[in-house]
Amino acid sequence: MFVFIGIAVLAVLALVVVATTFRRRDTETAIGQLSGETVKRDRSAAAQRAAVPAMSVDAAATGQAGEQLSGSAIEAAARAERSGELVPAEDRPPVVYVPPDPETLGVSRRQFLNRGIVAMFSLALAAFGAAVLAQLWPRPTEGFGAKINAGKVPDIKDAIVAGGGFFYFPEGRMWLTDYPPSALAKAQSTYSFWPQVSEGLEAGVVALFQTCPHLGCRVPECQTSQWFECPCHGSQYNQVGEKKGGPAPRGMDRFPMEVNASNELLVDTGNVIQGPPIGTNTTGQEAEGPNCLGAGGGH
Ligand code: FES
Repeated sequence: MFVFIGIAVLAVLALVVVATTFRRRDTETAIGQLSGETVKRDRSAAAQRAAVPAMSVDAAATGQAGEQLSGSAIEAAARAERSGELVPAEDRPPVVYVPPDPETLGVSRRQFLNRGIVAMFSLALAAFGAAVLAQLWPRPTEGFGAKINAGKVPDIKDAIVAGGGFFYFPEGRMWLTDYPPSALAKAQSTYSFWPQVSEGLEAGVVALFQTCPHLGCRVPECQTSQWFECPCHGSQYNQVGEKKGGPAPRGMDRFPMEVNASNELLVDTGNVIQGPPIGTNTTGQEAEGPNCLGAGGGH
């Protein structure tokens, strides 16, 4: 159903673009769309241009401007003009200046607006098409980018303990750590993405993307401080990925989590959630020992 709606909208937008383009081309011909005044001015200019060689011919053949000429006299004068024989300037009547049609000189306001509209429609069409394609593009069914079954929650918690507070899950490029039950109320009122992560947090687990939100390094854990500490520029995050120091613009990004009926944690690694803003501190966890990178973080 969504596909048909998308195709219909694309077709309508394409029609609008085509219609607008043809309208622009009509105006560029300067015929048919000109005002009556412009058409009249064009005709008088053409008549004046036609009159100029006739007067030159008259001058060449008889020397008296305005006199009625025979056809042979006109042809003779025209031949003389083509062969390069100059007609004395004083015998020519002054050429009347005809201002050029501004529409033929450059881009008029109307043309500018039309082209702007076409460009905007084209951009909108391209963006919409890209969005439709992105929706239709098949998502991976396994590995990073898919919804990954990380295992039963008790097993994950055991793995976190075994890893000294951190469980690295390479298939999902993520860290799994404990989320303390005492912080749930604060998380619910603080995290804008609470509905996407609530099931996992209520089960006591958080799934953090391994990539540093500063410039993309992989963030390792620091066993002594029980924080994450990025070796590239020294950003530091507490155990649930809230920023504690360094140049990162926010906390660690994370993934939506669900817990199914079998008490298994499902992590949607195809949908990265931006980390919480600087200053977020739902758990109040301070460094539990020496920092791996120094207390002040990097530059
Ligand atoms: S990439 Fe991690 S602090 Fe710069």
